[in-house]
Amino acid sequence: MKIISVVGARPNFMKVAPFIHNINKNNKELIAKGQNPIAHILVHTGQHYDDRMSKAFFKALNIPDADINLGIGSGTHAEQVGLSMIELEKVFILENPDWVVIYGDVNATMAATVTAKKLHIKVCHVEAGLRSGDMKMPEEINRLVTDRLSDLLLVPDRLSIENLKMEGVPDSKIRFVGNIMIDTLEANRKKADLLNIEEIIHTNSISSGNQQLITNYKSYALMTLHRPSNVDDEKVLKALTNFIMDEVSKEIPVIWSIHPRTEKQLKAFELWGKLIKSENIYLVYPLDYHSMLKLNMYAGIMLTDSGGLQEECTVLGTPCLTMRWNTERPITLREHGGASVLVGNNIERIRKEFFDTQQQERKPERPELWDGNTAKRCLDAILDYHTE
Ligand code: UD1
Repeated sequence: MKIISVVGARPNFMKVAPFIHNINKNNKELIAKGQNPIAHILVHTGQHYDDRMSKAFFKALNIPDADINLGIGSGTHAEQVGLSMIELEKVFILENPDWVVIYGDVNATMAATVTAKKLHIKVCHVEAGLRSGDMKMPEEINRLVTDRLSDLLLVPDRLSIENLKMEGVPDSKIRFVGNIMIDTLEANRKKADLLNIEEIIHTNSISSGNQQLITNYKSYALMTLHRPSNVDDEKVLKALTNFIMDEVSKEIPVIWSIHPRTEKQLKAFELWGKLIKSENIYLVYPLDYHSMLKLNMYAGIMLTDSGGLQEECTVLGTPCLTMRWNTERPITLREHGGASVLVGNNIERIRKEFFDTQQQERKPERPELWDGNTAKRCLDAILDYHTE
């Protein structure tokens, strides 16, 4: 059997890693039995290309460099999807795989799905069935198109099964496998815990102020922000940044890992100069996987608009303010036993939840099948489908 995995952006890398490790493990067993191993080809569209957004993850997660990098780079959505499709078509025709496996909801996910289906190649979507209902999110469009076309839909939780059923997807296409990103978390938490927090900040620092070293690990806020809805609108980004500078950092130290999109926007809106000099705010470059995990393990509170971090906070028990009005991951919300609460980008709401949440204890939660063994169930689902 030949499988091509297609990835493009940072959140994909944590999802493909355990899948590749599992194929390697499975191949050893096949070879020992004298059977043919599974051929796996990793294609990177190149949407994320900075070392800190891409290469660092391949290294840290112990996956080889992509077999093929399409070098698509930045651009509008149409450019990224269109160029990816043109290049992927050539690869798929040349390699003629049995399956194309795609992950999450980034532009590479949808580009690979459409291209593969038009070539009559079977598509397996890992992390299927998530819905935010927000058609202004590019990821929601990617999810809808991908799930509509995929042959095998591997879902992380039972709520996602309901979403797919409501859209008329037959049971035979759906497999409940759990959350593959938690495989990566479980495989790496010990290594992450060995890191030193001051050192992480020091080696990744962008700030230029006289920040005191953090000494009380329970008392810092960890923050990330990159959604267009939060960073592309000047009024919104200004209000959020001022709130962090004027209020949050007066309460506790803030470690803010800056996404390239956010850095660009903060500079464009002339917020950057003041921010990098702010005391008690530790601006750091996009962090490698283990550094982010370590900081999350000991943070007092997370402020983020990332979907993946919401999930990791749930398993680690880090109280999380999700700076969005909706989520495609409701299982991470407090009402479903998770650690997160939706606060949007309304400052009053964030302020209230920030002060309420600070009183809260860590409460790790493990949704069903978020057990570190999802990659095996993904591969089994593909192999079972093959023999059906
Ligand atoms: C993408 C995903 C999003 C995911 C996020 C994680 C889509 C539609 N969006 O959004 O779902 O949560 O990745 O990071 O696929 N840039 C760099 N260096 C890089 C990559 C990007 O400087 O290595 C800059 C680009 O110039 C661009 C900006 O960052 O202006 C945004 O990058 P882009 O790839 O368009 O999307 P993300 O916002 O990262």
